[in-house]
Amino acid sequence: MAHTHQFDAVIVGAGGAGLMAALYASKGGARVAVVSKLYPTRSHTGAAQGGIGAALGNMEEDSPLWHAYDTVKGGDYLTDQNAAHVLAEEAVDAVVELEHMGLPFDRNEEGRISQRRFGGHTSNFGEKPVRRACHAADRTGHMILQTLYQQCIRNEVRFFDEYHVVDVIMNDGKCAGVVAMELGTGEFHIFHAKATMFATGGWGRVWSITSNAHSLTGDGNAVVFRRGVPLQDMEFYQFHPTGLYGLGVLITEGVRGEGGVLLNKHGERFMTKYAPTIKDLASRDVVSRAIYLELRDGKGIDGKRYVHLDIRPETVNRYLAEAGEERRLDNHHILTALSEIIELSRTYAGVDPLTEPMPVHPTAHYAMGGIPTNLDAEVVIDAEGTVLTGMYSAGECACVSVHGANRLGTNSLVDLVVFGRRGGMKIAEFVKGADFVPVPDDASSEIEAEFERIRNSDGNTRPGELRRAMQDLMMDKVGVFRTEAIMQEAVDEVRELRERFENDLALDDRGARYNTDLTEAWELGCLLDLAEVTAVSAVNRTESRGAHSREDYPDRDDANWLVHTLAYREGGTLASNKDAKIRLNTDKKVDLSLAEEDDRFVPKERVY
Ligand code: FUM
Repeated sequence: MAHTHQFDAVIVGAGGAGLMAALYASKGGARVAVVSKLYPTRSHTGAAQGGIGAALGNMEEDSPLWHAYDTVKGGDYLTDQNAAHVLAEEAVDAVVELEHMGLPFDRNEEGRISQRRFGGHTSNFGEKPVRRACHAADRTGHMILQTLYQQCIRNEVRFFDEYHVVDVIMNDGKCAGVVAMELGTGEFHIFHAKATMFATGGWGRVWSITSNAHSLTGDGNAVVFRRGVPLQDMEFYQFHPTGLYGLGVLITEGVRGEGGVLLNKHGERFMTKYAPTIKDLASRDVVSRAIYLELRDGKGIDGKRYVHLDIRPETVNRYLAEAGEERRLDNHHILTALSEIIELSRTYAGVDPLTEPMPVHPTAHYAMGGIPTNLDAEVVIDAEGTVLTGMYSAGECACVSVHGANRLGTNSLVDLVVFGRRGGMKIAEFVKGADFVPVPDDASSEIEAEFERIRNSDGNTRPGELRRAMQDLMMDKVGVFRTEAIMQEAVDEVRELRERFENDLALDDRGARYNTDLTEAWELGCLLDLAEVTAVSAVNRTESRGAHSREDYPDRDDANWLVHTLAYREGGTLASNKDAKIRLNTDKKVDLSLAEEDDRFVPKERVY
C-alpha cells in the first residue's frame, strides 16, 4: 500500500524551472512539494556554463526586440513568436530578480552585470554579435540552482529528495498527482495535488555522445506520454558543437564568446566559410553541421573525428587584431572567466587549453520538443490548445515553442526562469479556486506491477547492453545529418530493442534499497520510448529546418512544414509498450503573431 501525501502543488524535478515554479507557487500562498530523484543542487541546470541571455545592454546597446528576433531566426522560424517576445521581454526582469536574490554574477568595470557573446545573439537584427549572456564565470547554471534552492528553503517549500516519480495519476481527464518510488527504501508514495508540474529536464542519454548527465532519461515525458499526453516537435534535437572529444562533456560556447576559434587539421578557421559574418558565433545547428562537413572532408585532426577549439591568447589575439577589435585576452582572464572548462579539459582530455587547443566534436545536448504547453506552462493536449486541468510543465521537458527548430545558447536558462516563474504564478492562482481531483484506489498498482516485472526479469540481456545499442544506433542514424532510409532502420531497431526490453531483460539486484539496477532499467524504458518518438517524428518531417537536417530533403519547406508536430501514443499499456503505435498530427500551427506586425520576423532564408 503506497504512502499518501497531499499538497496544493507538486513540482516534479528540482532544476531551475522546478525551483522557480516552486518558489512562485509558494509565494502565492500554495503549499508546495518538490519531488526529485536527485538531491536538488545536483540537478542538470548546474551543468549550464556560459550564461543566461538578457538584453540588459550593460556592455553595448541591446534590446529585447533584437533578442526576440534572434530567437525566432535561430529557431528557423518554427519558434512561436509570441513566446519569443515573452522570453526576451521577461528575461531582463528575471535576471535582475536573480541578482537581487543574491546570485553572484560577474561584474563589468562599472559594477554592472557583465555580459559576453554567444552564438546567434546579435544587435540590430543580425548586424553583428552582441554581448547578451550574463554570467557567473562558467558556472552560471550552478549559481542559479544554488540561489533558487536557498530561496525555496526560505519560503518553506517541502523537498522530497531521492523520490523518483514513475507515474502520473489521471482521473476523468484531469491530473490528480504522481506516484513516486523512494529510492532509499523502494517503497511507493502517492503525491496527491491540485496542480502537478513536470520539470524533469531532457533525455540526452538517448545518444552515445552527450553533454547530459546520467540522470537525463526523459522520465517525465515518457510518463505523461504513456498516459495519453502528446509530445510536440520531437524531431528537433540539438547537437552542441563543442563537446569534449570522445566523452561529449560540454565545453561552453562561452569559449567562443570570449574569442575562441574552431580550426581544422590545416589550422583553417573554417567557420569563415560557413558563416562569413558571425563565424564561430553562428547558431549551434550551423556550427555542428560545419564541423561534420569538415570531418567528412577529411579535415579532422590527425585523421580523427574531431576539430580544435583554440582559446590560447596568441591565437585569439591574432584574430581580434585582424577584426580591428581593441580587446585582448590573457591567461588571467581565461583562468577566471572559464575556469570550469579549463579544469574539465585538463582532467578529461589531458589538454591544457592555455597551451594547446581542445579536441571537440558535436554532442547531443538539448531537446527543443517536449510536453506541449501554453505561455503559462499549462499542458495542452491538442492543436486547439485544450488545457489538461491540473498539469503543468516547464523547462527542457516542456515545449512552449520558444526554441522552434533550434535553441540559441543561453536561452535554456532564460526559458527556465521565465516560464518556471509564469507556471508558478499560474499554479498559485489555480489552486486557490480548485478542488482536489480524487485519486483512484488502485492509483499505484499498475506501476508497482511494472517494477516487479522488471525486478524479477530473468532473461539474457543486461539493461546496459540494450542502452548502449540504442545510444549507438541513435548517434549513427538520428544525429546531425538524416535520411529516410537510415532513420527508418533506427525506428525498426529501437522497436526490436523494446521487444527485448519486454521479454529478455536480465537483472542481478532484486533488492529494495537503492536498487540502481532496477531504476536504471526502468529509465531505459523511458529512453526507448523517447528514441522511438524522436525517430518516427524525424522520418515524418520531410524538410530540413534548424537542427533537423535531411540530406534527402535539403530545403526548408515553409509552404508545407511551418507547423508543429504532435505525437500521440495509442494502444498498449505501461507493461506492454510494444503494442503501442505512434500517431503524428501536424494540425498545430506556428504562432506568427509578431511576423504580422513586423516584416523582419517573416520567415526568410537564414544568412550568417
Ligand atoms: O555553451 C553553453 O554554455 C551552454 C549553454 C546552453 O546550452 O545554453
